[in-house]
Parts: sequence; C-alpha cells; structure tokens
Amino acid sequence: MTMLRNAFLALWVLGSSVSALAGTARTAFVNGALWPDNNGVHINAHGGGILFHDGVYYWYGEHKVEGQAGNVAHVGVHVYTSRDLYNWTDAGIALKVSDDPASEITKECVLERPKVIFNRKTGKFVMWFHLELKGQGYNAARSGVAVADAPTGPFTYLRSLRPDAGVWPDNVTDAQKAALQTVDQLKGRTFSGGPNAETPKQPILARDFAGGQMARDMTLFVDDDGQAYHLFASEENSTLHLSLLSDDYLSHAGRYIRLFEHRWHEAPALCKRQGRYWMITSGCTGWAPNAARAATAPSIWGPWTELDNPCRGVNPQNGQGPEKTFGGQSTFILPVQGKKDAFIAMFDIWRPDNAIDGRTVWLPMRFEGERFTLTWADTWDLGVFE
Ligand code: GAL
Repeated sequence: MTMLRNAFLALWVLGSSVSALAGTARTAFVNGALWPDNNGVHINAHGGGILFHDGVYYWYGEHKVEGQAGNVAHVGVHVYTSRDLYNWTDAGIALKVSDDPASEITKECVLERPKVIFNRKTGKFVMWFHLELKGQGYNAARSGVAVADAPTGPFTYLRSLRPDAGVWPDNVTDAQKAALQTVDQLKGRTFSGGPNAETPKQPILARDFAGGQMARDMTLFVDDDGQAYHLFASEENSTLHLSLLSDDYLSHAGRYIRLFEHRWHEAPALCKRQGRYWMITSGCTGWAPNAARAATAPSIWGPWTELDNPCRGVNPQNGQGPEKTFGGQSTFILPVQGKKDAFIAMFDIWRPDNAIDGRTVWLPMRFEGERFTLTWADTWDLGVFE
C-alpha cells in the first residue's frame, strides 16, 4: 500500500516538474520579447485590441507573414483567448481574407487594427478595421465591418465604407461648409498622408462630405451606456474623427466631432476611468516610432485637452525612450477585469522588414489627477495594480 502511494507520489512529482520545465504557465509580461502562445508560437495579432466576454479575454489582431510581404494581409484577423492575460491560447483566424479577387478583402489587401465589440441588444460580435483595397496603397482609407455569433468567429464580412457621408460634424464651422463650393479644385490631387503644410490649407472635410470621410488608423470604444464609438485618423491623417455607431454597431449613427485639427494623430486608443475619458495616440510617421501623445476629456464629446508625452524611462533593448515611445506605437487600452481602475496601454514595435516578428509592449497606466504616465518596465505583472 505504502509502495503504491509512493509510486503515485513519484509520478505526481515527475508530472509537475515536466510541466514546470515546459514553462507553459507565464506569470508576467515581458516587454519586447517573443510572447509564446499555448503552442510556443509568438502571438501573431499585431495592431490588436482585446474584448472581455463571459470571463474570457479575446485578443484580435493582424496576422502577419514573414518578410516585407507581411505588410499586407495574406491570412486575416487572428484571435487568441486567455483568462489571466499572461497565457494565450490560439483560437484561429476569426476573419479570413478572401480568395476571390473581386472581394474587397481579397488576399493582399491591407487589413489593419481590427477591433471587436459585443452588442448586448443583438447578441452579435462586431469587428471594424482599417481597410485598404489591394494594389491601391493607402488611398482607399476605408472602414470594413464584419459580424459573428461567437467571439472567435467565424466573422462574416459585411462591407466597407467611408464614414459619415453627407453629415457635418457637430463642431463644423461656416467656413468648412462654404468650402463645398471650392472642392472641385481638389479633383485629381493627392496628399502625402503625413505631416505637411499643404494639406491643412485644403478643404479636405468638404471634399469628402458627399462620399464619406477618410478612415485609417482606428479604435472602437463602448461606453457604460452601451453606445459605441469609432475613433479614426481622417482628412489625410491630419485630424481625428470620433463618430457614434448605430445601436447595432454596424453603421455610423450620423453624429461625430473632429479632434485635434491638423495635429496628425494616429494609432488612437481610448478608455474611461472614474467618469473621465483618456486617449493615447501617436504622431504620424508610418512604421517608424515617434513620441506618444495623450489627451483627456470630461465627456466623450469633449472638450478634449492634449497632455504631455506620458512615457517615462528607456527600453534597454533598443535604447529608445519617450521621444520614440520605447520603439512602439499605441494600439489599444485594455481595462483589467477584477481590479479597480486598472488599465494597460498596449503598443506594437513594428518590424516592417519582417512583419511577423513585430513585438508587443504592455505598460500599466498610472493616473495622477488629470494626467497619466507610462513607465518602461522590462517585466511586470498585475500585482502593480493592487
Ligand atoms: C502607421 C500605422 C500602421 C500602418 C503603417 C503603414 O502609421 O499606424 O497601422 O498603417 O502606418 O505605414
């Protein structure tokens, strides 16, 4: 009997050390390192966002392939699941790009920054993303929408659009409306999509009034009252638009504001803490990092105030500090469940020469009155919030 018990004990000890050796249970975030999923494969969900639903976190992001080829979409939107934020299980491709060359989401389109929200009224999961049509560079500047019955999909692609066609923003000026008369002079003209003095002089808002506003880098945000918002880089990337979604989250409701006019914000992320709204964005320099930006507002419709660069410290892996956001670019603000007022700012370190090797940086947001800071940490865990 004792022998049998000892044999069981030996087996149990052996079993535990094998799983410890396998190193599957992660208990910290290791910034800039490879983040292995349950199969030991680096998580492939770039430009991502996270949905919490029924006790599970779902991390959606761009599935990238090797090399520069990975800068366009070959596979689709990858989804991973976790209950603790450290350990992620590969749940497959939530939205597949299409083999049909006639599809707007055909292989080699640009499908970026997917975000998923759950609609309590319809029971559907709704995904929006930045869509550029195959072979057209970044000129299309459209928003794609897809829907699913389950958080891991499969998502069905519905359509793409440019938001708010035929609608003026709440904070439109008379001069912007009057500019409708002059937009013909912009026919055939192209603009760089990066900071320059020429674009702001042009009536871009009026030019796109009839057909809908340009929409590139984006995020989604659901407020406590269930209203959802689409925040995106518009007007040749010069100005952000914050636009209310319809009750089913599948279209735009026809109310929006322009934010930070001609300030060239990209990579927007948004959260609400203690009744106040907080935003992290980047400047507009493509895949190359720049200084993070921050903003706050007492109401989602503003007034929004820009804050100083929230970053502190240096990432020793690349020597980059606040002026380059540790080498990263914002993608999402993640509310941590079960912790009071706890938020994680998520960043991508892009590797455009080998897109699949892009790295993740997550940092806790530390709030102090009407500002917050993001201090570099090589490694940290959720204990910081207690
Ligand atoms: C960045 C943007 C990325 C991607 C990239 C392409 O500014 O944040 O999502 O669009 O440009 O150059």
